[in-house]
Amino acid sequence: GRSAMWGGRFAAGPAAIMERINASIDFDKRLFRQDIAGSKAHCQMLMATGIVSKDDGEAILAGLDQILQEIVDGRFVFKTALEDIHMNVEARLREIIGPAAGRLHTARSRNDQVATDFKLWTRDAIDGLDRDMAALQAALIDQAEAHADAVMPGFTHLQAAQPVTFGHHLLAYVEMLGRDRGRLRDARARLNECPLGAAALAGTGFPIDRHSTAAALGFDRPAANSLDAVSDRDFAVELMAAASLCAVHLSRLAEELVVWTSAQFGFVRLSDGFSTGSSIMPQKRNPDAAELIRAKTGRVVGHLNGLLMVMKGLPLAYSKDMQEDKEPVFETVDTLTLCLAAMTGMIADLRVDRARLAAAAGAGFSTATDIADWLVRELGLPFRDAHHVTGAIVKRAEERGVGLEDLSLADLQAVEPRITADLRLDPAGSAAARTSFGGTAPVRVREACADARRRFLDP
Ligand code: ARG
Repeated sequence: GRSAMWGGRFAAGPAAIMERINASIDFDKRLFRQDIAGSKAHCQMLMATGIVSKDDGEAILAGLDQILQEIVDGRFVFKTALEDIHMNVEARLREIIGPAAGRLHTARSRNDQVATDFKLWTRDAIDGLDRDMAALQAALIDQAEAHADAVMPGFTHLQAAQPVTFGHHLLAYVEMLGRDRGRLRDARARLNECPLGAAALAGTGFPIDRHSTAAALGFDRPAANSLDAVSDRDFAVELMAAASLCAVHLSRLAEELVVWTSAQFGFVRLSDGFSTGSSIMPQKRNPDAAELIRAKTGRVVGHLNGLLMVMKGLPLAYSKDMQEDKEPVFETVDTLTLCLAAMTGMIADLRVDRARLAAAAGAGFSTATDIADWLVRELGLPFRDAHHVTGAIVKRAEERGVGLEDLSLADLQAVEPRITADLRLDPAGSAAARTSFGGTAPVRVREACADARRRFLDP
């Protein structure tokens, strides 16, 4: 008890709550591999510089290996009283090798230790996400190649705009994912400076070799400023910002799948493996995975904002606030990994109703621009005039309740007498004519598929 006066009632209570609010072991145990790798690198450096003896260092290294094995085997007992992964590992090391365990923490603090662990974890997460994004790109490119010439309605304002090809539409997402991967790559390059050896905040008087620990852990160099090294979590924010953008991209594709799979559109069909039934309506094939991807974007963006708020206004150097950095990052990576895998599965299995796409492609007077273009090309009209003439043609079709391709030559000539039978309107021809670089014509889409493979999947 703390005091005879209030200890009976309070001594255990506040201590237990303190332990609960302070402990991070429930989630930061996920850093065990990085923590042990960081400790081994630090220990090797302490031995090489003569700060720790060979015997003690070897005992420490062997003990750390044993702990790693215990954790991997599920035999390690994590203790909340020991707060976090760093102290859990160190306490166990002391049980295994005795007092020499205490030498591991020479010239180190949990502040540089946790920053190092977390950077190592984040770096692995970036590499994992990059692979998952590449897998989704591969699935999209496969489908784009298979449907390079499948004409469909292209939309603006979700109103029929101009015919495009399904392959072209999918390749748009391949580009977005390419930039998402680029952002991760950029973040990785900035992340890759090693905090270890910054110690608590000021560096250390021991003759450590920060370059060797940085190299041993795969960092490009040691972080230049010890205060910065233990204080910033911008690397985590950058990961979450890149993840948020990727999630927003996935959410848009998910939304399109929701729309496309509806009975009213019927453009595509999800496989049984990615459809869910209804307990009351037997006809249903619901796109739950797409809806959940759309929704989980909210979580990912929320976590980004959450960590930004944690960091805002923190004075240098370390504050315990920063212990709140891990859960949002773990959860962001888990969520995005899951969403990428689900999207990859849905896309790989997707069945495209090409007939239905083609039938829809001409709806909503989507070839109107082709008439205007023809008037410019063949009759030399300025585009604005051609636009006006075409408007009158659309009006006529609308009055008759038919599509543009159903108007007779006489109908067209009633609006513009110089129109000839050469003016052919069909959605496939419309898409095929758009051969400009980056355009929707099947010939360009096939090239773009090959180019995307080269840019995104080969190296
Ligand atoms: N568990 C802590 C964290 O995640 C480790 C660093 C603790 N440092 C300290 N000065 N209390 O941030």
